[in-house]
Amino acid sequence: MLTIALPKGRIAKETLDIFSASLGQNFVFDDRKLILEKGDFRFLDVRNQDVPTYVKYGGADLGVVGLDVLEEKQLKLIKLLDLKLGACKLCIGLKAGQKFDWTKSKIKVATKHENIAKRFFEKKAMAVDIIKLYGSIELAPLVGLSDCIVDIVQTGDTMKQNGLEAGDTIMQSSVFLVANKNSYYIKKDEILALRAKLRKNIEIS
Ligand code: PRP
Repeated sequence: MLTIALPKGRIAKETLDIFSASLGQNFVFDDRKLILEKGDFRFLDVRNQDVPTYVKYGGADLGVVGLDVLEEKQLKLIKLLDLKLGACKLCIGLKAGQKFDWTKSKIKVATKHENIAKRFFEKKAMAVDIIKLYGSIELAPLVGLSDCIVDIVQTGDTMKQNGLEAGDTIMQSSVFLVANKNSYYIKKDEILALRAKLRKNIEIS
């Protein structure tokens, strides 16, 4: 039996569809149920940012999670496969028409990705106050909560519709299948068989 933590939200359905197609079964969570068990697989319905935690501490053998979240959490997990879903970039966002002022002695940055943002500005020798938010990040500069944001840009629509534009790209991201180290050691055959099936499906799609 493999336990797999899947992220809620915009890639949830695509992710389950890939597993369904690859394993020849129809996987759908019942209403509010957080566990879906079928055959040799048990799927957990988990908040995106919590997926690495479930995998790292053995609540799940495997997880599906964005590279940005992995980078933010810095938990040592095994990256098994790029599922080529949810391609996006993590960018600085500024009010449209504004240039980033690298000469400022300190800036206020609103973000969900506080560690990545901190490391990025520290490398540039810039002092930052990180304002940790959990969503709707684009609001922060509009109401004077921050000078800029560090956030995910996928289509670019959210920034555009809120009068922001993307500046420097900090990293590219897409969704990966990751494994807990012990699980990988103990259930290697099962995990590699699953990876092969998923990979085949990704290649033909
Ligand atoms: C993410 C991100 C942006 C938006 C970008 O938020 O934080 O707000 O998507 O996507 P776009 O470039 O296609 O417009 P999400 O929708 O996950 O919700 P959240 O703000 O609650 O985190």
